[in-house]
Amino acid sequence: MSNSDTEPAYHYHEQTKHSYQSVRSDTHSLDFSNQPVPFKTYPGLKPIPLPHPLEGTEITALSAVSTTTSPTKEKRIPTLSDLARLLYFSAGITRQKDYPGRTLLFRAASCTGALYEVELYVVCGELPNLSAGVYHFSPKDFALYRLREGDYRAVVAQASGREPNVVAAPALILSTGTYWRNAWKYRARTYRHFGWDNGTIIAHLLAMGSALKLPTRLVLGFVDEELNQLLDLDVQREVTLSIVSFGGMSRKVSEPSTKLEVLELPTLPLSEREVDYPEMRTLHSATAFLSNKEVALWRGETPIRPLPAPEGPVWKLDPDPERAPDSIEKVIRRRGSSRQFEHKPISFQEFSTMLYCSAQGISADFLEPTEVLLNDWYLIVSAVEGLPSGTYVLHREGWFLELLKEGNFRNEAGFLGLEQRLPADASANVFFLADLDAILKQLGNRGYRAVQLEAGILGGKLYLTAYAQRLGATGLTFYDDAVVEFFSPHAQGKSAIFLMALGHGKKGPF
Ligand SMILES: Cc1cc2nc3c(=O)[nH]c(=O)nc-3n(C[C@H](O)[C@H](O)[C@H](O)COP(=O)(O)O)c2cc1C
Repeated sequence: MSNSDTEPAYHYHEQTKHSYQSVRSDTHSLDFSNQPVPFKTYPGLKPIPLPHPLEGTEITALSAVSTTTSPTKEKRIPTLSDLARLLYFSAGITRQKDYPGRTLLFRAASCTGALYEVELYVVCGELPNLSAGVYHFSPKDFALYRLREGDYRAVVAQASGREPNVVAAPALILSTGTYWRNAWKYRARTYRHFGWDNGTIIAHLLAMGSALKLPTRLVLGFVDEELNQLLDLDVQREVTLSIVSFGGMSRKVSEPSTKLEVLELPTLPLSEREVDYPEMRTLHSATAFLSNKEVALWRGETPIRPLPAPEGPVWKLDPDPERAPDSIEKVIRRRGSSRQFEHKPISFQEFSTMLYCSAQGISADFLEPTEVLLNDWYLIVSAVEGLPSGTYVLHREGWFLELLKEGNFRNEAGFLGLEQRLPADASANVFFLADLDAILKQLGNRGYRAVQLEAGILGGKLYLTAYAQRLGATGLTFYDDAVVEFFSPHAQGKSAIFLMALGHGKKGPF
């Protein structure tokens, strides 16, 4: 299968759409007796505990989210304590909730259904207090488990087509997605969730990288098989999704000298039995890169079509990135998805700050130049002071909102967000829509991964910029075609990718 034959991406997208009819004809029920555990466990390996304390950057969340740490020629080597912070504040356990007979452990970044299908691995050279190796991060006991001893960064550098940030990085965090852990509930739609749920984690990694002053870069172009082998993955069940590089050094990593040893490390089963959804593996193969040549061809200018010039009234954003003093760590600790919203309006400045700080460019190999994004921002505004209720589109190049249609669209927002109360009650909803035709034409099937991942990152940033201002947020799923129809004719031809609801969260219990 080739990346440029994009039929598989279109097919998957179409097959996994939600609609009013599809939800009503769905007979799937959850088998709680066979629910997968949310942790990967290697029974044969010894834990290497990660150090506390974790707080301490004193960088505000708004600043950490909106600033990218550009690559530098300066030497910047993360310490073990930096790594512990990166891992904890992206995928660590930050809260627990007790229910009769069970306890739910919530993580730093949001995740569909709290099923936590994304695992993190560290590949590093010699670091202060950590020897070179390939490690699995275990949030359960906040520890690393060493899969390979020695410096394997060159394998990642090679797989990435010698992407300069990867080549110069003392440490890399690789994310993987485990199909069954999320498919237990969401079945084939899980492949979209890989992008969203990895995206929220990456939003936190980028923010923490910025707070720790570590040059940080997201890399999505790599030869898949080489990284899957490095991480000893059973690719029928788990696959590599992304690389994030941290830090920089002048000395380039050396070429790998030996072939990778096959490890086949035993891991504990996730549940008694697993159900396979082969359509996801088919799509994954179609999005995979088989050679460095494909990786090189993939990079270049990002395929975006600018929004048409505004035809309706416009409102210039009025952001204040200094308005919230809380540090990124403090904000991540209190983040959680709002389970109910009040109808109380949010101020125009709060709203502007969320949009402005979350919509800055992302340092990623599929976004060239850095300012561009694959997703467009369409909004339903229901309660923002000084802004007429209605539908809008965000023009990032001038930081203004264009009014598309004035009116009260709370009922429509609720319907589009899969008939849930949350989008109906929210002060505003951000719908991420993308021009899949343009993206797939240039980026191939891999572009499908990129657009879902980017939407998850933007959603993760909105969570953080909302909670920084003591507001609430939640990610949501949606009725695909109804969303596009609702925002048409402006959004004609685009596809719905992700939805975030924003507002004043109500305190539980509900
Ligand atoms: C991509 C994404 C989609 C989500 N979709 C919904 C949704 O449709 N309805 C809902 O109530 N919550 C939704 N959530 C919220 C998750 O259920 C929540 O993140 C998860 O339970 C973990 O809780 P926390 O965010 O409070 O840590 C979504 C979250 C994400 C990241």
